[in-house]
Amino acid sequence: MIISILNYKGGVAKTTTTLNLGTALWLLDKSVLLIDTDSQCNLTKALGFDPKTDGNETIYEMLTGKCHSFPIYERGKGLDYMPGSPALESIAKELPEYKKLTVLRHYLSQIATQYDYILIDCPPSASLLNYNAMIASESIIIPLECAAFSVQGSLKLIPDIEGIKAELNPKLTILGYLFTKFDKRTNIARQVKELFEQNKNVPTFKTTIRRCVAFDSTPIEHQSIFEFDAESNGAKDYLALAEEITKTKRKKNWKRKINPS
Ligand SMILES: Nc1ncnc2c1ncn2[C@@H]1O[C@H](COP(=O)(O)OP(=O)(O)OP(=O)(O)O)[C@@H](O)[C@H]1O
Ligand SMILES: [Mg+2]
Repeated sequence: MIISILNYKGGVAKTTTTLNLGTALWLLDKSVLLIDTDSQCNLTKALGFDPKTDGNETIYEMLTGKCHSFPIYERGKGLDYMPGSPALESIAKELPEYKKLTVLRHYLSQIATQYDYILIDCPPSASLLNYNAMIASESIIIPLECAAFSVQGSLKLIPDIEGIKAELNPKLTILGYLFTKFDKRTNIARQVKELFEQNKNVPTFKTTIRRCVAFDSTPIEHQSIFEFDAESNGAKDYLALAEEITKTKRKKNWKRKINPS
């Protein structure tokens, strides 16, 4: 299943969710590919990818037809990633008109059956690459911070998803709003959550991702929350989210891939 992690609003934990939900799905024994379509390359950096030593082909080379093979790198057995590139920023100018909306779908359709889950980390904008992600995906997760202006952030997004579903990708569904950096002690968090839960057109995940300071350090350490602190609230929440999505429970030895020794 190809899932875009999408919100036009910045800083809502799209990248954090891609890395940690992806790792959690892998810990539940699913095969997973993480894709960075953001020219900021935060996911790529968090994974510790260095083009100088790890390889010089990224999703940019794939989308512009310059790759000899798929730019897929291994993080663990069954956990792969496709790095992003700052060059993605100007990709709209480089693609011929006929490829502009469907180029990502064209390439992903060739590898989709190799994975149980492909997660796409999207940039925070209404942009060509995000339309590509919506057209290439079966599902969308919308991370939301329960803060002021979070409602405005989704006002343009939902009509865009509906429009793409109606005209270009009928199988597209929204898996749900995912509340991130959640602190149930604050009034605003509770109010915003209630407001979104009243919208019956878009489901909300039962699992919420609690605010967790460990996420300040994980990108710098090039670790997922599970390698950094498997007992943290962040690790517990992303594993619970993976269980909710897959409708499967963790096995007793679910940590063995993080601490193989
Ligand atoms: N549950 C959490 N608790 C505390 N901090 C978090 C949590 N999730 C994410 N963060 C922090 O919030 C910041 C933004 O997260 P992230 O980069 O994942 O958002 P994003 O939506 O991908 O941002 P952008 O729109 O810039 O791509 C980061 O500093 C991250 O470490
Ligand atoms: Mg991001």
